[in-house]
Amino acid sequence: MTFDEARAQFPVLDAKAYLNAGTNGPLARATIEAVNAQNARDLVDGRSGKAYIEEMLELREQVRAGIAGVIGVEPPSLALTDSTTRGCAAVLAGLGLSDGDEVVTTDQEHFGLTGPLHATGARVVVVEADEEAIAHAVTPRTKLVATSHILWTTGRRLDVARVREDTGVPILVDGAQSSGAVRVDVGPVDFYTVSAQKWLCGPEATGALYVADPERLRVTSPSYLSQDAYEASGAFVPKEGAKRFDSGWIPSTSVRGLLAALGTRPEWCYDRAAETAARCREQLEGVVEVVTPPGHSTLVSFRPNGDPAELVAALDDRGVVVRELPGRNLVRASVGWWTSDGDLQRLRAGLA
Ligand SMILES: Cc1ncc(COP(=O)(O)O)c(C=O)c1O
Repeated sequence: MTFDEARAQFPVLDAKAYLNAGTNGPLARATIEAVNAQNARDLVDGRSGKAYIEEMLELREQVRAGIAGVIGVEPPSLALTDSTTRGCAAVLAGLGLSDGDEVVTTDQEHFGLTGPLHATGARVVVVEADEEAIAHAVTPRTKLVATSHILWTTGRRLDVARVREDTGVPILVDGAQSSGAVRVDVGPVDFYTVSAQKWLCGPEATGALYVADPERLRVTSPSYLSQDAYEASGAFVPKEGAKRFDSGWIPSTSVRGLLAALGTRPEWCYDRAAETAARCREQLEGVVEVVTPPGHSTLVSFRPNGDPAELVAALDDRGVVVRELPGRNLVRASVGWWTSDGDLQRLRAGLA
């Protein structure tokens, strides 16, 4: 697939310099066609029967295998969720933390991680987003390190494998801004989340959770799909592997759409996205203060010269879609494998 062919899959790019996959990736025509075809089928044929359920369960396994491939893990260690937030919540609740426990996290995390973390009742130790700062904060009471792989604010990438190895403490990694954006090797990481609506360009409310050792995490929010067998009391035999953490039925339309979205990704996606992100930094340096370190991610965050919200609105008027990072005085451009030099020029022209 050439770059032009790959880009032409996304109609939104005809009109806009769409630079916000960090929130929601652009939708491919094939993704929406698959959603619409399933909707049309459900409308006429209904959504029931053994064959229908079996077909959907089989498609779920194709999704599981597809996402597992993206982050380089085996499908049985991957749960299908509806978001990174859900994945974080499954892990944080499942660990059974109490107020005597500590969890080390950073000051650059999204509420999708910090909300479920706070809800555990454990003592939350917040440190600078840096490998050494995290390692220094670990004490004998630390039950978990919880951090993003790529920070949604500055776009910095943390060496999460090093943190796991240096601290010897289990680690939950929020992969919302890394999975599908950069090559991921989960390595010694214990838990890793995926938001499929972002860099994988899937339908909304799709995602996944990698669990290295499913037997050691309690199922605290079982869905019908978590169990192999159950009794009238609700006592149940969990499914083998990470499937027990599947967060529930994914709409048939979303399963179809996500499979189609996974099929749009060219093999050169990571190299192209990294090169274009590097060019984006070059174009912006000198115009604004770029805060994302070179080579870290496909996010390019910068401190604008004026008010961030006003700038984002003004850019939007020109068809350039970026986002403000509230409370951080930063604006963030998300550069994907579909981003063209023309998109970057439009961003630069809008800033100038
Ligand atoms: C780092 C990070 N974590 C979590 C989230 C929330 O993702 P989801 O909507 O998949 O729960 C986001 C989304 O913006 C994010 O950037």
